[in-house]
Amino acid sequence: MRGAQVLVVDDEPANVDLITRMLERNGFTGVRGTTDARCFRSLFLEQRPDIVLLDLHMPHLDGLELLRQVDELRGPDEYLPVLVLSADATSKARIDALSAGAVDFLTKPLDATEVGLRVLNYLEARRLHVRLEGHRQRLDEIVESRTAELERAHFATLRQLNLVSEFRDDDTNEHTCRVGGAAARLALAAGGTLDFAALVEQAAPLHDLGKVGVPDAVLLKPGRLTPEEFEVVRAHPTIGAQIIGDTTSDVLNLARVIAQTHHERWNGEGYPAGLRGEDIPLAGRVVAVCDVFDALTHERPYKPAWAPEAAVAELRAQRAAFFDPDLVELFVDVVLPGLPWVAGGVTGGPDLRRDVPGPAGGGGGRGQNPVVGAGLGNNAAAVVGGSTANGTMDDRRVGP
Ligand SMILES: [Fe+2]
Ligand SMILES: [Fe+2]
Repeated sequence: MRGAQVLVVDDEPANVDLITRMLERNGFTGVRGTTDARCFRSLFLEQRPDIVLLDLHMPHLDGLELLRQVDELRGPDEYLPVLVLSADATSKARIDALSAGAVDFLTKPLDATEVGLRVLNYLEARRLHVRLEGHRQRLDEIVESRTAELERAHFATLRQLNLVSEFRDDDTNEHTCRVGGAAARLALAAGGTLDFAALVEQAAPLHDLGKVGVPDAVLLKPGRLTPEEFEVVRAHPTIGAQIIGDTTSDVLNLARVIAQTHHERWNGEGYPAGLRGEDIPLAGRVVAVCDVFDALTHERPYKPAWAPEAAVAELRAQRAAFFDPDLVELFVDVVLPGLPWVAGGVTGGPDLRRDVPGPAGGGGGRGQNPVVGAGLGNNAAAVVGGSTANGTMDDRRVGP
């Protein structure tokens, strides 16, 4: 401790000399002093002292002002002892100094042994503070890494639960991964950062986690849903968000947002909250587009697959009603050509980036596809839901 850095400030050169020699006689090797209080800040920053000894009454800047500077210059949790040494033995001087943050007040003339011992005591207190602070930081690091581990385990568990749930209506279990991949591309195309897109890729597959709360009799029902059954389906975003719960993990927080909002609609007629336009978080809007496209273009136990061009026509028919219109165009123009599982399916087919005209009197592309009528059975309850511009999906889905 005798190698600790000590900074002495006193406007009397004789006092600085005296204190310096006193400390050096006690074995201290890192003592620096100044008689000009205006140099305190630069000296402090250069030396980074372990303890400061201050005179109280000095020209230019007094000891109280220097105590304020110490307060500003030390680290937020740093214990940096300041001893005030003054010839002013009034109680006001003591109280002013102690209330400004001094740890001790010694009156001149000074006793060399006493000053040495007090400095040693305060340096010992500082050493213990530094050690405790180190322990605290190590504990914080351990807690942080354990929390991250727990969150990874939580995330892995939720993914397994999600796979079990998905497996009921997607026996290849690939839908969630395709939605994650497409949503990451769309998030990037929409101006999101690479980090955000990576989070979306991990979080989006959990969008339908809440389907664990939807009974098979409803989820897999081949015919229309009754209004009561549709209410059960409409609960899945909230159930999913509740299962994910409160967390400090970025990916799980985003997964919760996506689970909660992937059935909200641009026109405010979605569920569960009826959010409108950009009030719907970007990740929810992105997943809405990718989820519907993927569900339409793949076979499920209750529906055959739509041709990609029919699904594109459906997205376009619902832009600005169901979907963020800009995201639909970005999806078709930027994302779709890069999706490996779609590119193979449309080789030699029409250019999906051009509008596909709807059938006469029908609107949209859905009527062109022979599978469409069947495709909007139960699937739509879990995927699209609600009325469309070209008729009401509810009419077909929610039967008496
Ligand atoms: Fe859903
Ligand atoms: Fe889905």
